[in-house]
Amino acid sequence: MQVVRTVTETRQLVGAWRQGGERISLVPTMGALHDGHMSLVRQASDLAERRAVSIFVNPTQFAPNEDFTTYPRTEERDLAMLEKAGVDLVFMPDVTQMYKDDHRTKVEVQGLSQILEGQFRPQFFIGVATVVAKLLIQTMPDVAIFGEKDYQQLCVIRAMARDLDLPVEIVGGATVRESDGLAMSSRNTYLSNTERAVAPRLHEEITGVAARVKDGDAIEDACADATQQLESAGFKSVDYVAVRDAETLDMPGPGRPMRVLAAAWLGKTRLIDNIAV
Ligand code: PAF
Repeated sequence: MQVVRTVTETRQLVGAWRQGGERISLVPTMGALHDGHMSLVRQASDLAERRAVSIFVNPTQFAPNEDFTTYPRTEERDLAMLEKAGVDLVFMPDVTQMYKDDHRTKVEVQGLSQILEGQFRPQFFIGVATVVAKLLIQTMPDVAIFGEKDYQQLCVIRAMARDLDLPVEIVGGATVRESDGLAMSSRNTYLSNTERAVAPRLHEEITGVAARVKDGDAIEDACADATQQLESAGFKSVDYVAVRDAETLDMPGPGRPMRVLAAAWLGKTRLIDNIAV
């Protein structure tokens, strides 16, 4: 496994593989790897001969009041996990490699970036779309894989890659859950024992919403009841529980695939989750 910190070295390696006729995959991450990430890495082996993973805690997707400085950084452990999984290349740029002092360009997927998560984290998807566009251009993979845990992020990235004609296939990977249903996330390490015990309620409640909507219940009632249940269970506040069109994230129309999405605070930790109807 090669650990590379510059764009030039990454391009040399990937270019040589491509010349040899090999397909290349990329799993972009911010490190603090868990089995959710590793399942994306495993999924990549069916899609490409060469597997690359990037690790970069991207400052531009954190608001000033968010957890950029405290975000878990577990570099040695991450590299050991990736080596064991047989990854070929780990691209680990530092902030100066990614953003020069006079960096001025931002990528924004309008509309999709302003709703749901975007209402509560207004700069988040601009930071994500910009860094992912850069990572894709820097590493030039044939296919890039993103977890469905961040469902809106996956929708934003698909739209960005399509709008910019990036020659890469964007693939989603199923959410990996703890045995009690809690979606794996690097931020779960922030939860106290009491909060950890309550956290699976988020998955339980959105599963309940999906079942009710499937049975024909009114979407507003199902979402309002789930919000109330989460608050009674100990969630400090609920940013949203919503049912949206699974592809566009618009309000669902008749006969369209639907997705339940939610974000809620447990103490100082913000959890998100989603599930298909
Ligand atoms: O999902 C993440 O870990 C990040 O948002 C991503 C896609 C690596 C961009 O920084």
